[in-house]
Amino acid sequence: MAVIAQKCPHINVTVVDVNAERIAAWNDTELANLPIYEPGLKEVVAEARGRNLFFSTDVASAIREAEMIFMSVNTPTKTYGNGKGQAADLKYIELCARQIAKEATTDKIVVEKSTLPVRTAQAIKTILSNNQTTAKFQVLSNPEFLAEGTAVADLFAPDRVLIGGEQSPEGLEAIEALTDIYAHWVPRERILQTNVWSSELSKLVANAFLAQRISSINSISALCEKTEANVDEIAKAIGMDSRIGSKFLKASVGFGGSCFQKDILNLVYISRSYGLEEVADYWEHVIDLNDYQKRRFAQHIISKLNNTLSGKKIALLGWAFKKDTNDTRESAAIYVADYLLNEQAEVYVYDPKVPESQIHKDLDYLNSRSPEENRAQVHKVIDVEQAVSGAHAVAILTEWDEFKSYDWQKLSNLMMQPAFVFDGRNILDHDALRALDIQVCGIGK
Ligand code: UDX
Repeated sequence: MAVIAQKCPHINVTVVDVNAERIAAWNDTELANLPIYEPGLKEVVAEARGRNLFFSTDVASAIREAEMIFMSVNTPTKTYGNGKGQAADLKYIELCARQIAKEATTDKIVVEKSTLPVRTAQAIKTILSNNQTTAKFQVLSNPEFLAEGTAVADLFAPDRVLIGGEQSPEGLEAIEALTDIYAHWVPRERILQTNVWSSELSKLVANAFLAQRISSINSISALCEKTEANVDEIAKAIGMDSRIGSKFLKASVGFGGSCFQKDILNLVYISRSYGLEEVADYWEHVIDLNDYQKRRFAQHIISKLNNTLSGKKIALLGWAFKKDTNDTRESAAIYVADYLLNEQAEVYVYDPKVPESQIHKDLDYLNSRSPEENRAQVHKVIDVEQAVSGAHAVAILTEWDEFKSYDWQKLSNLMMQPAFVFDGRNILDHDALRALDIQVCGIGK
């Protein structure tokens, strides 16, 4: 929304949330305190905030005044009841739609922005049409394809913008209204107009295809470790085939983030609910492979350290699910740490952006042990030297650039010998580290 405000100074954008603390943080004069860390975001907020970008807790007024409402509420995977562990929880979408229906006195275009399973626009439309007002609603699907860490750059120059709407004269008019907004900075040929279902499903399918590429190359990484092949060389060789392409072929400790797993689970759930068992199983395997990759990485550490981690200090570099973000949702680091903790390791984490409270929260959520045990066994430190001092092994779990520029000779001297480095992102120069007598284990090589 901040980018829309920045690119369209004539449009007033009000971001509302019931969480007063969060809104206060968005209004904080100190831009370093914005609730989300994203390169370039604070510059966008600095330019537009107070001019035509506002943050408020007054949800009702904002609904009444708006001509267009973007619904960007959370759609976590259900943790209870029917569809538990797979289906998206539409509770917040529904509450939000009910509130719009209650407050609206004039016609509105409602844009669903959250990642949603197909047919949600229809559910929103049904709720909106069962209300007291005479106001008319058009529901559009406009899925977000930005990736964290590059969100602002992705929004400035998106590969495409997708707008799905009802194929009626009113629906097409609403699609045009939203197209006009994006057209302020996105070339029109990159703005795709579709029916609602294609738009909703495209988001899930795009993420499923991206995740599938990572699981595919990660499956090959396991094979490479058994042979003389090197997964980075394979990725380069196959990526240069223009039919395959080079992106999203980086073997890793496993993908994380708020979207891939959740969207695939939604795809699986929808397919299964239509009786398409084979389709559901096919996509579910992308997740199974990802779980296998995280488990395999942890198991590798355990076996290299003589099958016992009891009382051993392991340094984890990185906790975020990827670099340049403080987001830790579904981060591979959480699961790797959990396996190591099961082996009674002492885990020391260094991540430039993630606070200790988040690390403990992530581990508590797994329920593998008590919160007290997590706090006793897992420590966040403020620099890498503290993390590696006296450590039996270092594991790189996020590809933060600063990890590449460390003086690894100095770090290795601080470690227990032989010094083991498990590079879960293949970001270090392994030959150079081996020349320093460091025992290096990468992914797929
Ligand atoms: C993703 C989609 O890219 C984006 O279009 C969608 O809107 C939201 O979901 P995001 O989750 O922010 O974005 O990050 P992304 O860059 O896709 O990375 C996801 C995970 O895959 C990360 O853990 C990343 O480290 C991992 N990854 C990515 C790999 O392991 N290898 C790769 O080659 C690429």
